[in-house]
Amino acid sequence: MSQAGSPIHNISDTARWAAFYRAKESERPDAIFRDRLALRLAGERGQQIAATMPFFEHHAWTWVTRTFLFDQFIAEQVAQGADMVINLAAGLDARPYRMALPPSLRWVEVDLPELLAYKDEVLAGEKPVCELERIRLDLANASARRELFDRLGQNARKALIVTEGLIGYFSPDEVASLAQDLARPPSFQRWATDVASPGLLAMLQKNLGGPLGQGGAALKFGPEDGPGFFARFGWTAIDVRSMLKTAARLKRVSTFMRLMALLPESKGRQGRRPWAGICLLAKP
Ligand SMILES: C[S@@+](CC[C@H](N)C(=O)[O-])C[C@H]1O[C@@H](n2cnc3c(N)ncnc32)[C@H](O)[C@@H]1O
Repeated sequence: MSQAGSPIHNISDTARWAAFYRAKESERPDAIFRDRLALRLAGERGQQIAATMPFFEHHAWTWVTRTFLFDQFIAEQVAQGADMVINLAAGLDARPYRMALPPSLRWVEVDLPELLAYKDEVLAGEKPVCELERIRLDLANASARRELFDRLGQNARKALIVTEGLIGYFSPDEVASLAQDLARPPSFQRWATDVASPGLLAMLQKNLGGPLGQGGAALKFGPEDGPGFFARFGWTAIDVRSMLKTAARLKRVSTFMRLMALLPESKGRQGRRPWAGICLLAKP
């Protein structure tokens, strides 16, 4: 439930917030990616949300690095033969308009009805580079999502699932249930997702817990076993890319953080260390 005073009124506002940081990145002369639609999609609300959450002003690198790493995984998987990308909780992502994708690629976006109605309206008149389908669905509705996954699974040979900025808002049980449902269709072969450590989850809850919780967007997921969490549901982490090490390579963090990035890192359990990574999961 949203409460007066919180800049986040509901979970979908986090999509406007993310789009705002993509817009800011796109304006830089040395932009790592350019999303010409992000500013329009973020709208004034995206800007207002960012302005009232200064914690992230100093952490803009996290949004940019996350986008960069998902772009990388998507481009690689498409080059390796993925014929469908299913972006769950796609928000205001505009990859089907900005990435170099084959015209025959089938791209599916799933998100809540209100958010997708807004997106359709803003993007009316824009043409995606590949086939694009938008599906308005509450992913918390397990039977409806299973039905959707079955339908999509039958129409793909090799699908890549994308969850970018979604599972952090789910409880461990909800993530487990989603992982099980995604493991069912044989053509769902790869899954790219971001994962936070328990240490990072605690830090974010401390710094952002108030406004996010009041807006019904509390952060809840930071598994002790890191990317290994997914193994019991049939998903093995075959590639884990560290946000901090990537940001250091991209020269988007301070000298101190660049020094921190030199420290060796586990690709599994992180303990109390604040850590986030983007993982590519595969079924055997
Ligand atoms: C932080 S945003 C991320 C959006 C996008 N993936 C990105 O990275 O810009 C979280 C998104 O999850 C969507 N979302 C949250 N819970 C959802 C649910 N139960 N069903 C469908 N979408 C959901 C929100 O509407 C929002 O668009």
